Amino acid sequence: MIHGVRGAPDIGPPDSKRLWQRLERGARELLERYDYAEIRTPVFERTELFVRGIGEGTDIVEKEMYTFQDKGGESLTLRPEGTAPAVRWYLEQGRFEPGSLVKVYYIGPMFRHERPQAGRFRQFHQIGAEAIGVAAPEVDAEVIQILADLFGALGLRDVALHLNTIGDAVCRPVIRERFAAYMRERKDELCADCHVRLEKNPLRIMDCKNPRCQAAVAGAPKAAESLCEPCRAHFGRVRELLDLLGVPYALNDRLVRGLDYYTRTTFEFTAAGLGAQNAIAGGGRYDGLIETLGGAPTPGIGFAIGMERVVLCLKALEPKAEAVRDGVYVANADAAGALRAPLVARDLRRAGSRTAMNLEGRSLKGQLRQANGDGFRYCVILGEREVQGGQATVRDLESGEQVGVPLAELCAWIAGRAGGAAGR
Ligand code: HAM
Repeated sequence: MIHGVRGAPDIGPPDSKRLWQRLERGARELLERYDYAEIRTPVFERTELFVRGIGEGTDIVEKEMYTFQDKGGESLTLRPEGTAPAVRWYLEQGRFEPGSLVKVYYIGPMFRHERPQAGRFRQFHQIGAEAIGVAAPEVDAEVIQILADLFGALGLRDVALHLNTIGDAVCRPVIRERFAAYMRERKDELCADCHVRLEKNPLRIMDCKNPRCQAAVAGAPKAAESLCEPCRAHFGRVRELLDLLGVPYALNDRLVRGLDYYTRTTFEFTAAGLGAQNAIAGGGRYDGLIETLGGAPTPGIGFAIGMERVVLCLKALEPKAEAVRDGVYVANADAAGALRAPLVARDLRRAGSRTAMNLEGRSLKGQLRQANGDGFRYCVILGEREVQGGQATVRDLESGEQVGVPLAELCAWIAGRAGGAAGR
């Protein structure tokens, strides 16, 4: 037997329908109500897109990319995230006016060569959204509101929004330099990785999990103290709007995020009960990225949700009780019933019911057991008597009641009785 690859789990029943499709459907419907349109970009891109987009000094680019040479000798990379590909798409379209807002979303697998653990995988799935073209803080608030709406609608509990601003091209260098100067004085307290970060990307020291590094960071100058006036005003307005919309947040001045393209607003949603990997979504503004990737200066902001982690939350919420019964099993009692069953099943499916029938050559008793075990609500029994009389025997597997229903009315009867439940 050949095993699947470590850190790249399969997704199958019952979770695929009950959790994954539910999350995906909920997100799609919500994003389309916010007027986002779907894009589907390839799972691989030229390596350079990510090196330039995400930044050379980041963990993703330095350690985590699945990079390979294709047969033409070109260096390609399995996408570790969706923002750089979305911006590439935006630029290649070449039809968008600066100042007009382009709102897109994507759902699909991402690939990072990280150490697999609970909530962290090498192939994982994101639902991402990007709003490109407008710098107004109203866009930031709307983007964050989508996530708050989605997690609320899914019934997730103990979700917290962490909010920060990290400045722009004007004040970010000041923030970084003040932080680096403070850290240089405490270099002896830092781990080996942070020595490298200090040279390459000092703000990333804030993300180090090493307790000594964290202690060293505790007293460091905060970004908020060095913001330029436009960044300060922008952040103030974002907060005002979130307050207005009733979206609660906690300010977190250590939230720097692991990708280099961010400017101004950054945010993360965390959920309780997930252990160390508790970020269920993250995002922020990236007003310099489009220029970095060869476009005219164009602002943008977006987020990505980690689907595996949200699914874990949904799973924890599931009631322990038996799942609701739905759909119809078409059983046959004899040869005449077996000949009629495919027609009845076809009609039930056309009418919208989840429907299965006896393809396994089971006895009637075996079929009833199967229908029960597979969670069907009704079992329609067809035999010579039913076919001749034009009336099916229908057993409600929830109550155990059994009634006769004219075959011509069966679909309507099921649909009406179940109040739509049969069709779910
Ligand atoms: P990110 O924070 O790297 O941001 O990823 C977003 C979310 O994806 C995380 O909060 C987490 O839930 C999930 N995630 C990341 N890595 C893994 C993993 N190895 N296993 C499971 N889940 C994971 C981005 O990717 C940005 N592109 C978000 C963005 C969009 N910023 C602006 N626009």
